[in-house]
Amino acid sequence: MTETIERLRVELGDRAYDILVGPGLIEHAGREMLPLLRRRQAVVVSDEIVAGHYLAPLRDGLSAAGIAHHAVLVPPGEETKDLHHFGRLAEDILAIGIERGTMLVALGGGVVGDLTGFAAATLLRGIDFVQIPTTLLAQVDSSVGGKTGINAPTGKNLIGAFYQPRLVLADTSVLGSLPRRELLAGYAEIVKYGLIRDPEFFAWLEAEGHRVCALEPEALRRAVLTSCAMKAEIVAGDEREEGDRALLNFGHTFGHALETETGFGARLLHGEAVALGMVLATDFAAKLGLADAGEALRVRRHLVDCGLPTRLADIGLAGIPADRLLGHMSKDKKVRDGRIALILLRRIGEAFVMKDAPVEKLRHFIATAAAS
Ligand SMILES: NC(=O)c1ccc[n+]([C@@H]2O[C@H](COP(=O)([O-])OP(=O)(O)OC[C@H]3O[C@@H](n4cnc5c(N)ncnc54)[C@H](O)[C@@H]3O)[C@@H](O)[C@H]2O)c1
Repeated sequence: MTETIERLRVELGDRAYDILVGPGLIEHAGREMLPLLRRRQAVVVSDEIVAGHYLAPLRDGLSAAGIAHHAVLVPPGEETKDLHHFGRLAEDILAIGIERGTMLVALGGGVVGDLTGFAAATLLRGIDFVQIPTTLLAQVDSSVGGKTGINAPTGKNLIGAFYQPRLVLADTSVLGSLPRRELLAGYAEIVKYGLIRDPEFFAWLEAEGHRVCALEPEALRRAVLTSCAMKAEIVAGDEREEGDRALLNFGHTFGHALETETGFGARLLHGEAVALGMVLATDFAAKLGLADAGEALRVRRHLVDCGLPTRLADIGLAGIPADRLLGHMSKDKKVRDGRIALILLRRIGEAFVMKDAPVEKLRHFIATAAAS
């Protein structure tokens, strides 16, 4: 197995950890975790769908490595990332009889990862955890970097902690069971890396992205690895998002507003919102004269080719009043002193932060986008 597995390091001093990328990792998770364990006990948290596919091979591997384990299942979906489910999960884990040396294992997409990571950050004032991301989005984004948390009634991801995992195992063979829409939503985050920092990677995606989406092993491995390597590098340089890490939010201020409007559910997936958000942010930069309109067209064209939403009309928001979206944007947690900050593109491969977006121009831009 080892020759197809790639290993990356997130360099964070005494909290540094490895990301392993490749097929078949779930079965060998026990073996990979063993050197990190302070106690041979693990509690796996997963959702009911993912558990149906992958809990058994994970448990077999844990048993083979001599690691005692329990599993706690949560319902699938964003609704699970709330205080109520967090409370139940915490009680269930504590009822197992964990100790400081117990390892939590998040087996699932970003929902399970964020929730389990927050449980790890808070239970017994902090225990270790491992991420085994099973969606493309979680493999290339949410499992790396230590942002953990849950949603509050007032907004998404407002309760949380920066808390790094001890290991990330991105098993690319699990993506075959992922619904197509979820896969494409994850692909949007891969495109994001090319757009913010790596023009050659974006050009490669333009040519070969269809192979990634067809899950061709070599293309998939390159896309996941390149994405994780970039995220690892950015996180290592700015763990708490005081500088460059903010660039990873490209497309997210628009995207969160769209998710708020559509209710954070199946109507619009997070990655789909990011895809449309990236198009809006690039178009807005072009409208302000800060980016080339041809570049903006390239961004839109690639996402259209992939079957991702690129117009408000694609997600049923044609004609939405600009003030509604602006209102959501100004409640985003990245807002400081009432100013809307946006990540924009200067050109493909070069993103920058605009700390105080011109609100009137933004209102006019959204109104035009909603009408087209
Ligand atoms: N922490 C971060 O840095 C970060 C970054 C981006 C997104 N997020 C969060 O991630 C969440 C979205 O994550 P997601 O897109 O992974 O969604 P998700 O966790 O809801 O998973 C999507 C669906 O796919 C199913 N699924 C997962 N893996 C599967 C597989 N291999 N085969 C079949 N079905 C599978 C799940 O059961 C679920 O129904 C959001 O809450 C978002 O806020 C966090």
